Amino acid sequence: MTDSNRDAAAASGQPAKPKPAFADPAGTWNQRYSADGFLFGREPNAWLAEHAEVWQAGQRVLCVADGEGRNSVHLASLGLQVDAFDISEVAVAKARKFASDRGVTVNFGIADCDSHDWQPESCDGIAAIFVQFADPPLRTRLFSHMRQALKPGGTLVLQGYTPRQLDYRTGGPPCASHLYTEALLRQALAGMDIVELREYEADLAEGSGHHGRSALIGVVARK
Ligand SMILES: C[S@@+](CC[C@H](N)C(=O)[O-])C[C@H]1O[C@@H](n2cnc3c(N)ncnc32)[C@H](O)[C@@H]1O
Repeated sequence: MTDSNRDAAAASGQPAKPKPAFADPAGTWNQRYSADGFLFGREPNAWLAEHAEVWQAGQRVLCVADGEGRNSVHLASLGLQVDAFDISEVAVAKARKFASDRGVTVNFGIADCDSHDWQPESCDGIAAIFVQFADPPLRTRLFSHMRQALKPGGTLVLQGYTPRQLDYRTGGPPCASHLYTEALLRQALAGMDIVELREYEADLAEGSGHHGRSALIGVVARK
């Protein structure tokens, strides 16, 4: 139970109802990231690593909801200028240390995707890897922010799970409305050039957070 929930219960004299995980994302994620180790591992996401060649050294890439830094640190090691943010201060503290241990520079921030300081046409690239915390209204705002932040010619690399993942339950949110289909991504990215859009299955070994047979979708899209 969160402190605010407990306080409200105490004030009303009623037993507190537990809040759903999405109602307190920072608290929920801080708790998940408080365990030792890296929830999603130290290696970059494979779809991102495979497609990072779309960007040239020196270009500016923003990692959205970057967690403990596995993706931002990898991109910085390729010579990119990397900005990254996440809602969890626990994750960002771990990411800062990870970058320092690896000897790379990443400009980290703590923010939720609505309050992040999105700068229009500022990024050559955006990496959005497993950002399916977003329900449909938040997803609409997030995609709009990401599209506006890309420079013309900039490239989005995104990975998520498809609804088939509900059969596997090896990672990702347990709700269909947060998951992506090809049709959903084509609609969300209408007007961008879809360089690659692939629905596939793979055995993930991304820490304990994403582990086992997984129903995935990846997209590379240019503004
Ligand atoms: C499945 S994890 C993926 C982390 C990272 N992209 C990776 O691939 O390792 C989802 C991330 O979204 C962050 N998050 C959840 N809600 C958020 C929000 N509203 N704004 C920004 N980040 C959020 C969590 O803290 C978590 O790090």
